[in-house]
Amino acid sequence: MKKGFVFDLDGVITDTAKYHYIAWKELAAEIGIDIDLKFNEQLKGISRMDSLERILSLGNKNDAYTEIEKEALATKKNTQYVQLLQSLTPDDLLPGVKEFLDQAKEKNIPCGIASASKNAPFILDKLGVMSDFDAIVDPATLKKGKPDPEIFVQAALALGIDPAEAIGFEDAQAGIDGIKAAGMYAVGVYSGEELHGADIIVEKLTELNIDELLSK
Ligand code: BG6
Ligand code: MG
Repeated sequence: MKKGFVFDLDGVITDTAKYHYIAWKELAAEIGIDIDLKFNEQLKGISRMDSLERILSLGNKNDAYTEIEKEALATKKNTQYVQLLQSLTPDDLLPGVKEFLDQAKEKNIPCGIASASKNAPFILDKLGVMSDFDAIVDPATLKKGKPDPEIFVQAALALGIDPAEAIGFEDAQAGIDGIKAAGMYAVGVYSGEELHGADIIVEKLTELNIDELLSK
């Protein structure tokens, strides 16, 4: 029997990937780099600074900026991103999320967030689901980002369970790899790109039977 759920945020709880994309595309264009939706898939699940490095690498510009300039570029992107987030409401929860969290609460199954986003608390607050989570990993405390299992292990431990007793939800390949490396059962939330190694793949959480899942 599994004893807890660990969720990625962007792409699993809400569709913020589109806002990340708009903000990165604008920032990239300012420095003469064009990114498209296919390239954007690579940015899912990875940190803000790692995303910037990948964009700079696409434009062969990794060495064109100092660390301070890179920080300024990332901050500029984040300012634009946070502005786009202002319009989020509980209606932006992905289908089935609220119902799933309510069922977990009824069954006393703890839920945690394992997101690379430093904006996670702000987003959860805007979505009105902050109190549905028992633990939110602070990505600033991590030594390594996804696909390293660290964030998922930390989330499970914060819920008071062993990673092997947890079920992880992810929409990005880096996240599925991290969940599996943590020894957890992986639910892939399909968002258009292929996900390899997930134990089950769904398009929406409405497709899941919570009791069946817990029996895995
Ligand atoms: C992840 C997203 O959840 O958070 C990534 O999938 C993003 O695309 C990362 O780069 C960091 O987000 P933030 O909000 O801290 O810039
Ligand atoms: Mg995600």
